[in-house]
Amino acid sequence: MEPVARALRERVGLKALLERSFRRAVAYLESLPDRAVRPLPDAVERLAALDEPLPESSSAAEDVLARLDELVSPATMAMAGPRFFGFVIGGSLPVALAANWLAGAWDQNTGYASSTPGTSRLEVVALRWLCELLDLPAGTAGGFVTGATVANFTALAAARNSVLTRAGWAVEADGLFGAPPIHVIAGEESHPTLLKSLGMLGLGRSRVTRVPVDAQGRMRADALPKISGPTILCLQAGNVNTGAFDPFTEICPVARAAGAWIHVDGAFGLWARAAPELAHLTRGIELADSWATDAHKWLNVPYDSGIAFVRDGGPLRAAMAITAEYLPTESANRNPSDYTPELSRRARGVEIWAVLRALGRQGVREMIERNCRQARRFAERLTAAGHEVLNDVVLNQVLVKFGDAAKTRRAIEAIQEDGTCWAGVTVWQGHTAMRISVCSWATTDEDVERSVDAMIRCAAR
Ligand SMILES: Cc1ncc(COP(=O)(O)O)c(C=O)c1O
Repeated sequence: MEPVARALRERVGLKALLERSFRRAVAYLESLPDRAVRPLPDAVERLAALDEPLPESSSAAEDVLARLDELVSPATMAMAGPRFFGFVIGGSLPVALAANWLAGAWDQNTGYASSTPGTSRLEVVALRWLCELLDLPAGTAGGFVTGATVANFTALAAARNSVLTRAGWAVEADGLFGAPPIHVIAGEESHPTLLKSLGMLGLGRSRVTRVPVDAQGRMRADALPKISGPTILCLQAGNVNTGAFDPFTEICPVARAAGAWIHVDGAFGLWARAAPELAHLTRGIELADSWATDAHKWLNVPYDSGIAFVRDGGPLRAAMAITAEYLPTESANRNPSDYTPELSRRARGVEIWAVLRALGRQGVREMIERNCRQARRFAERLTAAGHEVLNDVVLNQVLVKFGDAAKTRRAIEAIQEDGTCWAGVTVWQGHTAMRISVCSWATTDEDVERSVDAMIRCAAR
């Protein structure tokens, strides 16, 4: 059958196709609690079948879907399951996934409020709710982007605009050639993607003043350099290894008084502000000018989803909005793309709105506090089994050693191979360790006990 005719036929079969997709997705999700968390080697080997020539002719959509499911589903890491503790990766709450499917059907290019009023309005509401939940200053502006890397980039572009505007330089128009130098300060333990963002902004990955940190990776307030002239200070809420927070109450008032733009990378740590039990860790953060976080981490929405918050929307819009004859930049309503690097973009606020609407303040708080309690349980049981926990477990991150570097690596390999759970290797201040990150809605207390049993069993081999 020729392709157009087939496409028309398939349109008639749309419902059947989506039902098949739904059934396959549900079967996949239902398999997660019982399957090995890592993809099995034979499934990874079978991926070689994907390396076929570009098809000359068309295929039936249901055959394409079947091939996708049969070849790729078994080769996935069970990140959406309850016992994946690698990197810092949340799952996907059912309401978030369901909203994501509906938004996929809508296919709204959410750049402008005039053309996509529904999804643009969802972002306005989601942004307001997020600011309330995270106790950020009322009226804070924000951009819904792909993740914390781009959220840092977006917020730091606003920072660059602001400090140079104050120095009489229009960076968006004139670039950085001949501009007044900007002093960028960051901790020794900043996430590498923060430095990447600085590099992308022409601020350099290596010309940053790195401030020494303490044993938990917190910036040492006593080592903060003197601040004068155009300055951007990058702080961190939640170290990717230890979960530690920079001492905001000691640093922010000083930096603010000296006129620095304060930016906080809170990829996962910013969510501590949603939990009264943990909010003390972030005290003083409200004095910052911008904050970056991920919704695909602790809010448990599907990839990819991050948020850049900027106290004053002016510099953010100056850095991100486009002016072109055919593009409406001024509008009575908030144009999402005036706040993001992308013009064409998916409607990322949809799942965020859905999770906040479904869980409410209490539900988010419960999820975050539960994951932190579960992290403490990991630490307690691993310590009791004679293994060394390297960090103060203040949040959801646990670093554990199983002896020297070689033994620790062997234990981690055995744990990954066992398949009950998955956690990765890291090196923390010279020590090779396993990093356990608990940030999934799906993780039950029983999953924690099952996982820790497997860890202790594998490390004893
Ligand atoms: C502190 C911190 N910043 C930035 C990032 C980068 O986030 P993303 O991968 O969502 O861009 C991470 C990722 O784990 C992180 O932990």
